[in-house]
Amino acid sequence: MYSDKVMDHFQNPRNVGEIEDASGVGTVGNAKCGDIMRIYLDIDDNQVIQDCKFKTFGCGAAVATSSMATELVKGKTIQEALEVTNKAVMEALDGLPPVKVHCSLLAEEAIHAALWDYAEKNHIKIEGLQKPKSDIHEGEEEEEEEY
Ligand code: FES
Repeated sequence: MYSDKVMDHFQNPRNVGEIEDASGVGTVGNAKCGDIMRIYLDIDDNQVIQDCKFKTFGCGAAVATSSMATELVKGKTIQEALEVTNKAVMEALDGLPPVKVHCSLLAEEAIHAALWDYAEKNHIKIEGLQKPKSDIHEGEEEEEEEY
């Protein structure tokens, strides 16, 4: 049911932990399943993400997607990091079962929340970044209603 990459990142998650005095921290949850993800970013003066760590209290797919998401944003600029969508994370993991797609949304939203926090702390505006939701389940409801 899960790809080898998902199993690998679930069993050996990369970049677990915290960054002290992080440039930006983002926490998001999903009220439906109760899972929570927190992402820490260390961003240098050139707006390049030097380090990224995460803590996830959630299912295996949420752990695997946060692990992969942190790997994908490391070394990227802020603008490039915005392109690390949940789809990009899923592709990098060779896919997720349909019922687990929402877990990858936590990773995307947590990165956005951490970038938002960084922008607020530095009084800057990041082009293309919308104010993140703290509960991704809100968005899911809307999507479900469209069908
Ligand atoms: Fe909630 Fe996966 S079941 S994030």
